[in-house]
Amino acid sequence: MLNVIPRPAYAEEKFGEFVINSDTTVYADDQLAYARDALVNCVEKACGYRLQVVVSRKAKIQFLFDRHVAREGYNLEATTDSLTVQASAIAGAFYAVQTIRQLTMADLIDNPTVLTMHAVSIKDEPVYAYRGLMFDEARYFHGADTVKTILDMMAYHKLNVFHWHLSDNEGWRVEIKKYPKLTEIGSYRKGSQYLAWGNKSIDKTPHEGFYTQQELKEIVAYAARLNIMIVPEIDMPAHLGAAIAAYPELSCRNVLKEVPVIHGGTPETGGIGDIIGCAGKDFTYRFIYDVIDELSAIFPAPYFHIGGDEAPKGEWKKCPHCQETMRKYGLENEEQLQGYMNNKIAVYLKRKGKRLIGWNEILTAKKLDNSVIAQYWTYKRDPRVENYLMSGRDVIVSKHQAFYFDMPYAMNRLKTTYEFVPEKYGIGEYSSGILGVEGTLWTEWMPTEERVEYQLFPRMEALAEVAWTPASERNYRDFILRLRKFIPILDKARIEYCPLSMVNVKNPLKRLKIARVFQRKNAHVEYNRAMVVKKRRRYRI
Ligand code: ACM
Ligand code: ZN
Repeated sequence: MLNVIPRPAYAEEKFGEFVINSDTTVYADDQLAYARDALVNCVEKACGYRLQVVVSRKAKIQFLFDRHVAREGYNLEATTDSLTVQASAIAGAFYAVQTIRQLTMADLIDNPTVLTMHAVSIKDEPVYAYRGLMFDEARYFHGADTVKTILDMMAYHKLNVFHWHLSDNEGWRVEIKKYPKLTEIGSYRKGSQYLAWGNKSIDKTPHEGFYTQQELKEIVAYAARLNIMIVPEIDMPAHLGAAIAAYPELSCRNVLKEVPVIHGGTPETGGIGDIIGCAGKDFTYRFIYDVIDELSAIFPAPYFHIGGDEAPKGEWKKCPHCQETMRKYGLENEEQLQGYMNNKIAVYLKRKGKRLIGWNEILTAKKLDNSVIAQYWTYKRDPRVENYLMSGRDVIVSKHQAFYFDMPYAMNRLKTTYEFVPEKYGIGEYSSGILGVEGTLWTEWMPTEERVEYQLFPRMEALAEVAWTPASERNYRDFILRLRKFIPILDKARIEYCPLSMVNVKNPLKRLKIARVFQRKNAHVEYNRAMVVKKRRRYRI
């Protein structure tokens, strides 16, 4: 069994071992020099010495350019004498380095003098081109160190898209030079609903934070070095409360004056969950285009996420601007008004060479621009997504049951994540339109970095294997055996995680009980229990 996560598409262990020591020489064709340097750095970090870089193909380790290999794929041959990597691009060669890193356990052994790995023959490439993780920093701002830890671990597991949820009702986290109040007012929350959806208790500790444009650029560059693209999300027209608090004229009735403390809204906005930007005012569109302009100068990704989820239409029904826009363009209802808005933005993004991504609720509009990508998150089956795929359009899959990592493990079990296949969710027939899969970390109940890590690990490992490894090569028992060997690496890196004894609770009554408490009373119930379990285990050691 090779200790690699995600498991390679094809691997055959051979007799013998390949040894890296301070005399080991390394060569790379020019196109792959970046990956060679990544390996040199990795060995230096583990062993303290730098491998000798040579210009001769007689080196012990060789990175060879081969245009027949897929862009993110690689071939790796390790014998007792040599280690050869073939790749057609930096991405694939970089992933070969991650595999070597895992096979030699470079991140686990303390101050080794040599690194060894089994002789092996690997041919590897991903199932999906889009292998994503979403991180919500609107609910809680965590900062660059947390983001970099996540990015590092994503690269280690060959994930390549970091979808960054940067605004919501609870906070606006990016500097926009044209609209300074977005961060002056929108990044500050005077307290937080902190116990559960169904429990309106407020913690009066203020919370704030945002990234300057310079900080964002540095993180984008950091991610690019790890072959990770960052897709920013500015959620609209709903989930826009923090922006509306800063610029109330963005809403239909100028009512919100500060970032809401209760999730989803305040009674003044017409009821809990009724916060929405106005789809009829010119100002709204000017604002959105300005924000897109500034963010496009920071995020080069060919995608821009506009959310579009959970948009209540009560305000639009009462708003003269929205109703006038509907009359003017012959839109039969408010759903079509949202479609009109999405199309305007999609066209604007297209001119910048970007495609609009939105959560699957955006499909309620009838005529959507062909370039729009739907992200399928809803728990219930959505026939619109199936039709969308059937008509040849593109979808990213984040089905709640499998990929909502904010849920307790007792509700969204690790096995359910790991055993994801499109067929289980009614979209198997059209899988050619599935760009990939994405895990989501909504942080309403994650005030600390440790909590974020607990929800994410070891789910990131399951996600990576779903995104990378062919379903025919996946096996949950085999995965758990490899995870057991991987957990000490998390321990060494001081990354929090859910103990394996709790990732797959089978007892349905226990699961139901945790689900009830999570939703109604205390969303921290499972985490608190996990920390007790871990502490006990530590004392036993
Ligand atoms: C979502 O969870 N509202 C996309
Ligand atoms: Zn309006």
